[in-house]
Amino acid sequence: MTDLTAAWDRLLQAAAGADERRIVSLFDAEPDRLARLCVTAAGLELDLSKQPWSLADLDAALALALAADIEAARDRLFAGEPVNASEGRAALHMALRAPKGSDFKAQGEPVSAEVEATRARMAAFAEKIRSGALKGATGKPFRAVLHIGIGGSDFGPRLVWEALRPVASAIQVRFAANVDPAEMAFALAGLDPAETLVVVVSKTFTTQETMTNAQTARAWLRAALGPAGDAHLVAVSTALDLVEAFGVPADQVFGFRDWVGGRYSVWSSVGLSCVIGLGAEVFERLLAGAAAMDDHFRAAPLATNAPVLLALAHIFNRNGLGRPVRAVVPYAQRLHLLPNFLQQLEMESNGKRVTADGRPVAHATAAAVFGDAGTNVQHAFFQLMHQGTDVIPIDIIAVRETSDGDPAAQRILLANAVAQAEALMVGRPEAEVRAELSAKGLSRAEIDRLAPQRTFPGDRPSAFILLDRLTPERLGALLALYEHKTFVEGVLWGINSFDQWGVELGKTLASRVLSELEGGPPGTHDPSTSRLIGDLKA
Ligand code: F6P
Repeated sequence: MTDLTAAWDRLLQAAAGADERRIVSLFDAEPDRLARLCVTAAGLELDLSKQPWSLADLDAALALALAADIEAARDRLFAGEPVNASEGRAALHMALRAPKGSDFKAQGEPVSAEVEATRARMAAFAEKIRSGALKGATGKPFRAVLHIGIGGSDFGPRLVWEALRPVASAIQVRFAANVDPAEMAFALAGLDPAETLVVVVSKTFTTQETMTNAQTARAWLRAALGPAGDAHLVAVSTALDLVEAFGVPADQVFGFRDWVGGRYSVWSSVGLSCVIGLGAEVFERLLAGAAAMDDHFRAAPLATNAPVLLALAHIFNRNGLGRPVRAVVPYAQRLHLLPNFLQQLEMESNGKRVTADGRPVAHATAAAVFGDAGTNVQHAFFQLMHQGTDVIPIDIIAVRETSDGDPAAQRILLANAVAQAEALMVGRPEAEVRAELSAKGLSRAEIDRLAPQRTFPGDRPSAFILLDRLTPERLGALLALYEHKTFVEGVLWGINSFDQWGVELGKTLASRVLSELEGGPPGTHDPSTSRLIGDLKA
């Protein structure tokens, strides 16, 4: 048995004991529970004390991290080694947010100078748009940016914009991802082509949805402005030849490198629309916050390392307690897109069934992630969270202060975040419910019928992440926390978190089906698929 297998066994055995006690009982049994399970990183407070692990279980989890040599894996990541082995690439998103003068190398090639030069170009371009120095084809300043991209070329920028946008903005930023024509119809509605900049974002510049929407946007510009409409096109891509062929003016093309994974790309020129909408200074602060989390991840001991602890808590639930689903609920409307972002980050990165060297994984991998903004979801899926038959661990993200409006409303929001975590863990025992019903004068029969329905089993775990304010720095740190947490999980599971072969088959088959829908020769399909295609062609 290897050290790693033994460490996994120890963790799984530890978790088996968790069913025999209640989380809340651990606070009395473990006087230093809060001290060990509440850590601060890059300005974020992470509270993992409402997790089902005891401190002895935590030690078993930390031993697993040691046995998996997380620190060496992390050092290989930061050193720009080809950790994305199936594509022979580094995964060096940390280089994109490193402070000026850093010295990152991707597989030995220095990259920091190029990163800084691109960042400076982005800032200068954004400033020209924001100040009105760069005007559109008819001489009008730009008042809108239409960001076209999907997946990693959409989720991050859309989240950052929603999280940090001014309530009233001189420049509006809109997003179009889906190839559903309704998406572009709504994205273009009310925009004046003469005042709109179209930023096409695609690492490959071949993604069907993005290219279709980009063609629609280009046609919309040309219809109003003639060939001069192409001057309103901007592109962000690694495929500079394809960008040029599309007609984007050379000085409006922003590149990045293949060591930037799509779901890790918001820090690169993929964030250009945000730089234009929010200003370069805000974007720099976002990067600085992420860099602070990078520093923490690199330097903090495992026992106080926030990404490592969050990964271990999630793994304790996923593998130790067999929980295949996790909820993420930001108690911040501005963060309502965080669950979407995390769905791609975690499920595209770690939704794998074989190890990086092609063997079946020994343990279940990524949990399915779902969620939306609190308090809204309290009126949607929280019934199931409290009283459903499955235990669904939850990450709750809350923000202490806001300048968006009424502090009283903000206190209500915070009270709900805290109370839900408490209610999920503590629950409400049947005896208490019975006593209350009895005091109200209900009959024994009524109490027998109602009490079980009003009982809350509790013992449902949460991770609580508290931000002092939703500043660009804290947002950057939050996203980087989850990036590194996802990486740590991937190392523990032995998978490559940086490829996504699982998205390819559907893309290939969609092209075949499309050619049939457009009148091409019929292909070979299962009967159900053939029937559907026939139906759609009829
Ligand atoms: O969903 C698959 C995927 O390849 C993602 O990894 C990527 O973020 C997205 O498509 C968009 O790709 P591109 O930026 O090349 O258009």
